[in-house]
Amino acid sequence: MTTAVGSLLATLPGHRYTDPENFAREQEHLFESEWFCAVRSADLDRPGAYRTVQVGRESVLVTRNRQGELRAFLNVCRHRGARLCTEESGAVRRGLQCPYHAWTYDLDGKLTAAPNLTRMPDVDRTAYGLHSVRLREWLGYGWVCLAAEPPSFEETVVGDVAERLGGAEVIRHYAVEALALGARRTYDVAANWKLIIENFMECYHCATIHPELTDVLPEFADGFAAQYYVGHGPEFASEAEGFTVDGSAGFERLPGVPDSHDRRYYALTIRPQVFVNLVPDHVIVHRMFPTAADRTVVECDWLYAPEVVARGADVSHSVELFHRVNLQDFAACERTQPAMSSRAYRAGGVLVPSEHHIAEFHDWVTGRVG
Ligand code: FES
Ligand code: FE
Repeated sequence: MTTAVGSLLATLPGHRYTDPENFAREQEHLFESEWFCAVRSADLDRPGAYRTVQVGRESVLVTRNRQGELRAFLNVCRHRGARLCTEESGAVRRGLQCPYHAWTYDLDGKLTAAPNLTRMPDVDRTAYGLHSVRLREWLGYGWVCLAAEPPSFEETVVGDVAERLGGAEVIRHYAVEALALGARRTYDVAANWKLIIENFMECYHCATIHPELTDVLPEFADGFAAQYYVGHGPEFASEAEGFTVDGSAGFERLPGVPDSHDRRYYALTIRPQVFVNLVPDHVIVHRMFPTAADRTVVECDWLYAPEVVARGADVSHSVELFHRVNLQDFAACERTQPAMSSRAYRAGGVLVPSEHHIAEFHDWVTGRVG
C-alpha cells in the first residue's frame, strides 16, 4: 500500500485529491458505507424539526418524530422523486409534504395523505413510505449509515476511538453528550477532504501557521504529532490560564475531567469525517461534508457545560482561538489543493517521520476505495 521514498513514506499521488471519479468512489465506499456524523441531536429540538445533509451522493433528511426520537430518510419523494425538503433546516407541523404534488409523510416516513388518494385504490400507502436510513446517537450527534449492511457502530466508531486513544477512552471523561452548543462556525473550504484530515493529523505545521495555538501549547512549536500521540495530551503553557486566544481564564473544569487531564489538550480523528478537540472546560467538534473533489464544508461546534451556555457567558475568547486555527488550517489546505493537479505532484510528495501516521490513514482509504 504505502510506498517509501528513501527513508520517508510517500503521500497519495496528486490525482487522488482532484479526480472526480476517485471522489465518486470515495463517496460510495466511504461516506455512503461508513457511519457518518450528520447532525447535532439538540439542533432538532422538537418534533417536526428537520435538517438536511449531504452524505456521499445522497441528500439525507433527519427529523424528530412525535415520540421525540431522531429519524433519518432519503430526502426523495416516492411519487416522482422530487426533493422533499430543499432547506438546510426547518420545522414542519403536519408532516413532510412534498412541494410537487403534495404527497404527505408523517415523521416516521409513512405516506399519510395524497390528493385524491381515496380515488386511487391502486396506490398502496404502506408501500410508498420514505426510504429510511439507519441512525445512531453518540456524543450528542446523530450518525447515519447508508450501507445495506452497516458495519458495527460499536466496533468501527466507538471501539476505533477507544483503540486509537491508546485504549484510554479519554473522551468519556468529557461527557460530550451532556454539553451545550456555545458557538458554531461553518467553513466552505476549497480543498479535498483528505487534505483537511491530513492537516488535522499532524502538527509539523503548527510552528509555522498557528502562533496563537503554540502560545497556549508550546510543545506544538516543536512539530509534535498531535494525533499520533493523542493519548499523551500536550500541556498548556505555564502562563496560560485557559485554552483561549489571549491565554485568559476559561470556565470551570467539566465535572468528569480528572486531574491528570487538567490543563491538557487532546485531539482525535473519527474516520471518515469528524475531529474532536478536548480541553478541560470545552469540547470542539468538527464535522466535514465533502461535496466535491475540491470542496468540503466544515461545520465546527464549540460545546460547554450547559450552565455556561444558559447564563450567557462570554465564550468568545475560547471560540476565537480555534476559529483562528481553523482559518489558518483551511488556508493551508486551499493553498495545497491547486498544486495537486500539477505535474510536480503527479507521484505525490513525502511524509516526514512526525507525519508517518498519516500513511495509516492513506492505507485505510485506499483499502476501501481501491
Ligand atoms: Fe412528490 Fe409528486 S413528486 S408528490
Ligand atoms: Fe493546524
